[in-house]
Amino acid sequence: MTNTLLITGGAGFIGSHFTKYWIATHLQDRVVALDALTYAGNTANLAEVWNDPRFRFIPGRIQDQASVEWIFKTEKITRVVNFAAESHNDRSLLDPGALIQTNVYGVSVLLEAARKFGVERFLHVSTDEVYGTTDTGVFKEDDPLLPNTPYSAGKAGGEMVVRAHHVAYGIPTLVTRGGNTFGPNQYPEKLISFSLTRLLQGKKIPLYGDGSQRREWIAVRDHCAGIATVLEKGEPGQIYNVGDHNERTNLWIMQRLLSELGMDERLIKRIEDPRGGAHDRRYSMDTAKLQRMGWKPERSFDEALSATVRWYRENESWWRPIVESEDYQTFVRRFYGRYLGEDL
Ligand code: DAU
Repeated sequence: MTNTLLITGGAGFIGSHFTKYWIATHLQDRVVALDALTYAGNTANLAEVWNDPRFRFIPGRIQDQASVEWIFKTEKITRVVNFAAESHNDRSLLDPGALIQTNVYGVSVLLEAARKFGVERFLHVSTDEVYGTTDTGVFKEDDPLLPNTPYSAGKAGGEMVVRAHHVAYGIPTLVTRGGNTFGPNQYPEKLISFSLTRLLQGKKIPLYGDGSQRREWIAVRDHCAGIATVLEKGEPGQIYNVGDHNERTNLWIMQRLLSELGMDERLIKRIEDPRGGAHDRRYSMDTAKLQRMGWKPERSFDEALSATVRWYRENESWWRPIVESEDYQTFVRRFYGRYLGEDL
């Protein structure tokens, strides 16, 4: 059967990779990408599919009910994959209220449109951060939600709205909770993309606190394949963790990037932890539920990380305009100014 997917946040990092993945692997389907083109959205991320007759791009926000309803109606959407979100913890600490509009209210607008027009599947992309932090053990899908930052609280709120629409109205919802994702085209604000673009400009990279916090890293293509598996085979009303078991400390990641670039460890600048008490120490997920549906990560972590370093080296034309933009420089000054001083 032919489907028309609405992919929200389609010009963002994971959303654009998923859009390209879907167009390449589902030759009968159409994709409508909706994106607000805020600071993190970039139509250049969609260059490969831009002229494909099965692809359409619509600029707009998921909070805009009239536009969302118009898209459902005119495009006859059968499946929704919601990537649209404010996704950065550090920005959320500077401006905790702003993300509620997208990460909570926008989810409700999409679900209401799905209720009004009917969809076969509604997949909401969430994060392992909704579980909070754990020093030992792994998060399972039915663990309690204990988010610690405004960003993760907003994501948890979005999930609650999804759950209620499934229970109250029978919307065939699915939720995925992904781990820390990396790869080409990631806006240069996250640990790997921020560090790489700074190092390539000859700047120091800020290590928060002692750098012993651990994250579980997954290559963007594997994350997309996990979401696709849930979209195809998941059971409505269910939640699925999407993670690879590459647990590394932040210090390890920085050292690895430096060694890939042949640079000196003195480029690491240890700073007082800007996240303070909201800095989660460790994430780790049990992914057995997703693996039972046949998904497994395809790319080795080492290989994917090396490919990412190469991509940033070779695609300065993609990231240079971003790091030189007013919005980016304002954020870096506001968030890192007092910690980096002359190394800003
Ligand atoms: O776990 C999934 C989540 O991963 C996603 O839901 C979020 O959208 C995504 O931003 C990411 O959240 P984190 O806060 O874990 O990612 P981030 O790359 O911002 O930071 C990773 C770790 O590295 C964290 O412990 C803070 C630290 N860090 C980060 C930056 C940017 C540094 O030490 N220095 C840095 O310059």
